Amino acid sequence: MAGGRGSFASRLGFILAAAGSAVGLGNVWKFPYLAGAHGGAVFLIVYLGFVFTIGISVMLAEFAIGRAGEKNPVGAFKHLKGGAWTGVGYLGVVGSCVILSFYSVVGGWTIAYAVKTAAGMLSLADAKAFGGTFGAFVADPLQPILYHLAFMAMTIAIVARGIERACRLLMPLLFVIVVVLCARSLTLLGAMAGIKFFLNPDFSKLTGAMVTAALGQAFFSLSLGMGSMITLGSYLSRQTHLAGSALWVTSLDTLIAILAGFMILPAVFAFGFDPGAGPGLSFITLPAVFAKMPWGAGFGTLFFVLLAVAALTSAFSLLEVVVAFLVDEKGWTRAKAAYWAGSAIFLLGVPSSLSFGAWEELKLFGKGFFELMDYAASNVMLLLGGVLIALFVGWVVSPRIMAETAHRDGKLFRLAPAWRVICRYVAPLAIAWVLISGL
Ligand code: PHE
Repeated sequence: MAGGRGSFASRLGFILAAAGSAVGLGNVWKFPYLAGAHGGAVFLIVYLGFVFTIGISVMLAEFAIGRAGEKNPVGAFKHLKGGAWTGVGYLGVVGSCVILSFYSVVGGWTIAYAVKTAAGMLSLADAKAFGGTFGAFVADPLQPILYHLAFMAMTIAIVARGIERACRLLMPLLFVIVVVLCARSLTLLGAMAGIKFFLNPDFSKLTGAMVTAALGQAFFSLSLGMGSMITLGSYLSRQTHLAGSALWVTSLDTLIAILAGFMILPAVFAFGFDPGAGPGLSFITLPAVFAKMPWGAGFGTLFFVLLAVAALTSAFSLLEVVVAFLVDEKGWTRAKAAYWAGSAIFLLGVPSSLSFGAWEELKLFGKGFFELMDYAASNVMLLLGGVLIALFVGWVVSPRIMAETAHRDGKLFRLAPAWRVICRYVAPLAIAWVLISGL
């Protein structure tokens, strides 16, 4: 896949690449803190509902657009229809830049935490002290920006050289460690309150803001609405069974998010943290869990390294959207595109990093810069992209894409009629409703 347009040799290779994009900080960092802030079990239920109806359908739509268009999102829409629809591709390119800018800041936090854990941070006696450690770290004017730079430099290197495959090999190991950490978290004294919180729904917590957050998170976690899956689909061979791949990727991603919930939330309650603590939740809770384990420092370091790797494979697919656009449409070389786009996105991320410290007071639309970028991307751009992608497949290129999405033997997959109804009616109406009520 490095130079020129390649394609995936096997279906498994494609599923792993798409899962590499989907599984990342969205699962381990964002899902637990959103669930924590939005009532736990109710959030989980609404989230699962969205993932297995709208989410999986839009993913399949993106794979199909990518394979039919054989291009970056802008090129794919231009090739399949052109006109105003090309704008959906541009929206994706812009969305990728916005997401990667703050994603890289959090990616930097994971690298920093790998270093700090290895260097002996876990010797803090009181679990509550980890909150202070995190607060002081993100408020530092320089350190988090240097780690953000390190994360972006690695992303650029991976995209420029096309060595993403090597990273993906490490992901099964992350899975194993997450399972071990779940076991530790679930057996902590006082874990039961967290399990109840995560599994026992309190429907009085069902609010509009929560529904918006759940749908936004479904799109964020599955890497939908901005062209990552279109771009991956463009490298797809004619033989791959798309619907089965979408089911695999969606299921894997969801499994890891749920495991992450079981890893974080019981510990949050056991240690008496605030489940609504926001973006720092995983970073204050996990060190406290490691401190309660044999070989905690070793485990903790390995965990943060692997989390950084999972974040890199997601960051790869974000930068890849912009790079594929610059290579296909503007004729840049891959290395030049990776370098310039990555550098610009790094700069865009700096205010996000500073918004936890020096620029904390600066509010736009009542939100800090980091929060604003996240909101604009997850709750606006991805959802808008999702509506348009569903409409495109449902109404604009329907017969052709439907045929492309058929099995190798030319038959449609079993749930094709349901997919069509979701793309035509359910997804556009539901997403539009959430989007408008959210604004
Ligand atoms: N899905 C990734 C995660 O969960 C983030 C991402 C969003 C990647 C959108 C690509 C596109 O971490």
